[in-house]
Amino acid sequence: MRGKVVVITGSTSGIGQVAAEKLAVMGARIVQIARDKTRGEAALERLRHLTPNLKHTIYYADMSRIAQVKQVAAAISETEPRIDVLINNAGAMFGTRQVTGDGLEMTFALNHMSYFVLTHNLRDRLVASAPSRVVNTSSDAHRRVKLDFSDLQSAHDYAGFKVYSRSKLCNILFTRELSRRLAGTGVTANCLHPGFVATRFGDQSGGMLTLGIRMAKLFAISPEKGAETIVYLASSPEVANVSGKYFYKCRESTPTREAQDDNAAQNLWKETAKLAGWET
Ligand SMILES: NC(=O)c1ccc[n+]([C@@H]2O[C@H](COP(=O)([O-])OP(=O)(O)OC[C@H]3O[C@@H](n4cnc5c(N)ncnc54)[C@H](OP(=O)(O)O)[C@@H]3O)[C@@H](O)[C@H]2O)c1
Repeated sequence: MRGKVVVITGSTSGIGQVAAEKLAVMGARIVQIARDKTRGEAALERLRHLTPNLKHTIYYADMSRIAQVKQVAAAISETEPRIDVLINNAGAMFGTRQVTGDGLEMTFALNHMSYFVLTHNLRDRLVASAPSRVVNTSSDAHRRVKLDFSDLQSAHDYAGFKVYSRSKLCNILFTRELSRRLAGTGVTANCLHPGFVATRFGDQSGGMLTLGIRMAKLFAISPEKGAETIVYLASSPEVANVSGKYFYKCRESTPTREAQDDNAAQNLWKETAKLAGWET
């Protein structure tokens, strides 16, 4: 990874933090996007301490807000002439339905919309830097759900885990359609399930969800283990020419039939593009 530039979200904690640190140690310069200044500066400090010779940087944005994602992408595009890897990883689960200032359901906005808008707005840089890669953190939670295109904002049917699982299905469908649209550019797009990992995930979900996840975390794997597939997809020569796939434990895995539905992937793309304010 020497000489490579990696842009990553959700690197102030959990698997994103470990992945950023591992990639830095492998020689990559890390460009972080975080929302919280204190945690952001601490993450940057850790990276600088690990690899003092690399000029890691950090940008701030609430990734659940479309305008902030666009702004941060514009700022990065202006200062970074090349992006070798984009890792969309920031995500969370919410016990009760919340709506962002853009009128979107919070889980959809943060876990899906931010991946879409950030990638679209960094696309030119990725294409100009080809061969380059997009890595999207998804989850096996997608296995429990289908998408309801008549209620993408879960206005009529909200349950925290179900809505979270749908957002992770969106991540796979997005990866699939992105890969199709990037064909021939030299940019690959893959996604992954990290395993069930003991991170801060769930701590802020609220109520019974937080309690349930806290108990389940007793049996979870470490963030170091959970980050392995992110690092693999970002760096391994083995996947240099693989695109549009879902991985678990550094191996290709088969997602559900719903996650392999090309019509759904194209529909989701169109609906998301409309919400992002641009035409396909
Ligand atoms: N843990 C698991 O078992 C598991 C399983 C499958 C998939 N995943 C996925 O793995 C990814 C990383 O989660 P994790 O387990 O490492 O959890 P985590 O420790 O809670 O980390 C989540 C990261 O996302 C950031 N984030 C949350 N909301 C944000 C916002 N509005 N704007 C910008 N950044 C925001 C957090 O920033 P702060 O530090 O400011 O909170 C943090 O850096 C998520 O996409 C999650 O869905 C996790």
